[in-house]
Amino acid sequence: MNKSFTLAAAASVLLSVSALGEADITKLPPSASQKGVTFDKDIKPLFEKACFKCHGPETEKPKGKFRADTLAAVLKGGENSPNVVAGDIKKSTLLHQVALIIDEDEWMPPKDNKAKIAPLTKEQIGLVRAWIEQGAK
Ligand code: HEC
Repeated sequence: MNKSFTLAAAASVLLSVSALGEADITKLPPSASQKGVTFDKDIKPLFEKACFKCHGPETEKPKGKFRADTLAAVLKGGENSPNVVAGDIKKSTLLHQVALIIDEDEWMPPKDNKAKIAPLTKEQIGLVRAWIEQGAK
């Protein structure tokens, strides 16, 4: 086996097992004060606008194998599952992605996406945070 092949093979193994990058969670917006936050009532409407284009019920091949339209699908997660861990904002990489506190090529919605879907607002991110902290119900 020649040297460059070995290097390429090693690199591809590293890439395929790498999870999403580290995030500094001290940069997260504060939690919403709202009590009793649930996916169906509070989070799904946000995802419907910001995520369904690429992760929705009608997306034939959801990006990253991630569906954002039901609580069960979100908890099941995508290629780098788990994306949401109930009660754990450090392990919930989805929150880091929507809060844009992770590498910019992992932002959700993706940076400069063609559909021009805007990132969530600070208030919306605070609501997603509260939802996870309250147990992702
Ligand atoms: C314009 C299309 C688009 C929109 C809108 C979008 N995403 Fe994504 N999403 C992607 C693509 C593409 C990937 C796969 C990235 C990759 O494989 O490198 C992805 C991956 C993900 C992943 C990682 C899945 C995994 O386990 O690897 C999560 C979680 C995610 N998106 C959540 C969201 C959320 C939440 C929203 C809305 C706030 C959203 N996305 C909006 C295109 C989009």
